[in-house]
Amino acid sequence: METLELTGIVKRFGEVTVLDGLSVSIPLTGLTFIVGKSGSGKSVLCRLAVGLLKPDAGEVSLLGRRVDVMPERQLSALRAKVPYLVQGPALLDWLTLEANVALAAKGLPDDGRIERAIERMGLAALRDRYPPQVGPGIRKRAAIARALVLEPVCLLLDEPTTGLDQVAANQVNEALEAVRDAGLGAMVVSHDYAALQRLADRVVEVRQGVIGYQGQKAGFLEGPK
Ligand SMILES: Nc1ncnc2c1ncn2[C@@H]1O[C@H](COP(=O)(O)OP(=O)(O)OP(=O)(O)O)[C@@H](O)[C@H]1O
Ligand SMILES: [Mg+2]
Repeated sequence: METLELTGIVKRFGEVTVLDGLSVSIPLTGLTFIVGKSGSGKSVLCRLAVGLLKPDAGEVSLLGRRVDVMPERQLSALRAKVPYLVQGPALLDWLTLEANVALAAKGLPDDGRIERAIERMGLAALRDRYPPQVGPGIRKRAAIARALVLEPVCLLLDEPTTGLDQVAANQVNEALEAVRDAGLGAMVVSHDYAALQRLADRVVEVRQGVIGYQGQKAGFLEGPK
């Protein structure tokens, strides 16, 4: 089952209930945009999805496996299938972009996967640059390339364009299209409605601890705000 299933999820921090019985089933194919106000719980949802947080109630299943009760050792294998790219810097500044990508391939078959990831993210001409020598859009592409080396099913990206200028944001959005063209899925937490309008196959909205909307983007864009 190529889905992320959250069922009856309750997540509290102290007195604050962030998710309050949230249920959603997200296909891991195509591009899913996850939206919602700041503080609505989008990043919490991402961390629950890959077992970095445990729910107070409810069940989390990813690719048909119960994440919320899975031992850590099995979780790391599952996380390679759905890599989670957090916001902010992720590369080692003292390694070239290629070396950063290659790091992720340690212990994996030497079957051209590094080269494929570099090509796919349009980094062939930039491979010998160091992260500080390129812009934030290219750095994010290198981070995505590093995830692609794992040969994932679907990427989970938390606000990959937030804080980037338009040029850098476009570089990341093109990378998302390349991910989709490669037949991989992506779940993208985003405030970028222009990108959503252009790229999303479906939209999931987190609102007041539950799902406010899930479905085609057309319905989301037309619906009441
Ligand atoms: N580890 C934590 N400890 C305490 N509170 C937390 C923790 N993680 C998240 N929260 C709280 O949970 C709520 C949801 O946070 P979350 O980061 O998921 O929001 P978000 O939708 O990702 O917002 P943004 O769009 O600003 O990134 C916030 O009120 C936040 O303060
Ligand atoms: Mg967040």
